[in-house]
Amino acid sequence: MMWHQNILGVSVLEDEAYQRILNWLYDRCGMSYPENKKNLLIQHMQRVRKSFNIPSLATMADKLELNCNHDLQLAVVHAATTNHTYFFREPLVLEYFKNTILPALPEKGVRIWSAAASSGDEAFTLAIIAAEVRGYFWAKQNLEILGTDISQVVIAAAQTGVYSEAQVDKMPKEFLERYFVTFGKGHFRVQDDLRHVCKFHTFNLKSEDYFFPKLFHVVFCRNVLYYFDRAHQQHVVDAIYKVTEPGGYLVTCVTMSVRDLDSRWIHVENGIYQKAT
Ligand SMILES: C[S@@+](CC[C@H](N)C(=O)[O-])C[C@H]1O[C@@H](n2cnc3c(N)ncnc32)[C@H](O)[C@@H]1O
Repeated sequence: MMWHQNILGVSVLEDEAYQRILNWLYDRCGMSYPENKKNLLIQHMQRVRKSFNIPSLATMADKLELNCNHDLQLAVVHAATTNHTYFFREPLVLEYFKNTILPALPEKGVRIWSAAASSGDEAFTLAIIAAEVRGYFWAKQNLEILGTDISQVVIAAAQTGVYSEAQVDKMPKEFLERYFVTFGKGHFRVQDDLRHVCKFHTFNLKSEDYFFPKLFHVVFCRNVLYYFDRAHQQHVVDAIYKVTEPGGYLVTCVTMSVRDLDSRWIHVENGIYQKAT
């Protein structure tokens, strides 16, 4: 049977199913997608559909809406997100963290949250910088880094602490020698002591319930706010504010400003915000 095709070569039925999947992703994760990403996202969704042996995108949308297949939901969320990340990404904000934030943090019980951690590269980068600035022993004893992400797949990867050469190639070589062990061909594993500084769990930033047993001193929320519409961005920065210590910091990316949002964060530098003391 020939379906009527629109200008992008997407059938009308496929288009309707795509819209329903988009709505599901928006309700579930707060993600929105520009029109120019449509064909790419449809390709990702078709791949998931095939791997679950589902006859059509419409049936896949039914299953998502019925909330009946958790594995399918995880696969769709994972396929819809860009998990690209690497060690020592965006040196500018990391320099600020290293030179200004870290030295001012308390002696004991320091808590940092990598709020869209992907495979953990950011969390371990922060642990390495902390070990360099305040000492490896200090980091092991006094620092806890929580890495969270909506995708179970990347969280499982982060928990292994194993990385490919490509993920670590922006990192100074001496850190590779100091904080990693070789793990099979072309792979490295974070040393046990440093690995225990970082814990990883799934968490949806869109969630209403930001319940954490203690407040954080620093929250990194980089390269994720772009996915959200304004209302969700507002929700996320307000919710992070509530779980941050007075005087604590929010670090976004240099190019992602939360200044237009109506929030109580005080702008310090590009990508750096502070909560009033
Ligand atoms: C591009 S990665 C950013 C990783 C790291 N923060 C960095 O800057 O390199 C974006 C991550 O955001 C996650 N993400 C997307 N929507 C999310 C949500 N609603 N809650 C939590 N994480 C989400 C994705 O799964 C993805 O791993």
